[in-house]
Amino acid sequence: MQVVRTVTQWRSIRRSLSSQTQRIGLVPTMGFLHDGHLSLIRIARQHCDIIVVTCFVNPTQFVPGEDFERYPRDENRDLALLKQEGVDYVLLPGGDDIYPEGFSTSIQPPASSQGWCGQSRPGHFQGVCTIVSILFNLVQPHFAFFGRKDAQQCAVIQAMTRDLNFPIEIVLCPIVRESDGLAMSSRNVYLSDEERRRALVLSKTLRLGLTLFQQGVVDSQAVLDEGKKQIQTMEGVRLDYLGVVNQNTFKSVSIIQPGNYYIGAMYVGTTRLIDNMVFGLGEAPCSE
Ligand code: PAF
Repeated sequence: MQVVRTVTQWRSIRRSLSSQTQRIGLVPTMGFLHDGHLSLIRIARQHCDIIVVTCFVNPTQFVPGEDFERYPRDENRDLALLKQEGVDYVLLPGGDDIYPEGFSTSIQPPASSQGWCGQSRPGHFQGVCTIVSILFNLVQPHFAFFGRKDAQQCAVIQAMTRDLNFPIEIVLCPIVRESDGLAMSSRNVYLSDEERRRALVLSKTLRLGLTLFQQGVVDSQAVLDEGKKQIQTMEGVRLDYLGVVNQNTFKSVSIIQPGNYYIGAMYVGTTRLIDNMVFGLGEAPCSE
């Protein structure tokens, strides 16, 4: 496994890789890896000859006042895990290398970025689209792998890839959950034991919504009312949003169809968590 710390060094390596004979896969991350990230790498291995993982805590996708400074970082642990997974290249660029002085370009995210996380975190998807475009251009992968926990991010990146004609196949990979149902996230490390217990209300609420749908409830407002009630009864938790949306546009739907997403975000103490499930399916599978 080769660890690459500068864009210049990476460019020269990339020139030596053949796009004709080798399929290159990109797994972009912000580091502090968990089993969710490792599952992306394992899925990437099924499609690709060369796996490139990037670990970069991207400042432009954090809104002022968010946790950029304290976002968990553990480079040595990440490198050990990536080595175990047989990753070929790890890119660990510095902030100034990605955003040198004078950098002022950004990508205007597609319509699916409006609402939900886009509304609660203004500028977030602009930062995501900008860094993902930079990484696409640097790595020039054939495939790129993203986790479905960030469902809106997945829709935004798919639309951006299509709109900007990046010649890259986006593979969306299933959410990995702890045994009690909590979706894995680097931010789970912020939770105290008590908060960790409270955090389960989000996945339980989403599952309840799916059960109601299975029982014949198709009115999204009825599902949302029930969900909000459930979350409001949990102490120490503040709902950001619950929504029932079309899986591609992320626009609210009033009558639920199989394949629509039930999405939610909430704060447990100061930690913001997101999750989603698919009506009629439960967990969304790998998109390949
Ligand atoms: O999902 C993430 O970890 C980040 O948003 C990504 C895609 C690595 C861009 O910084």
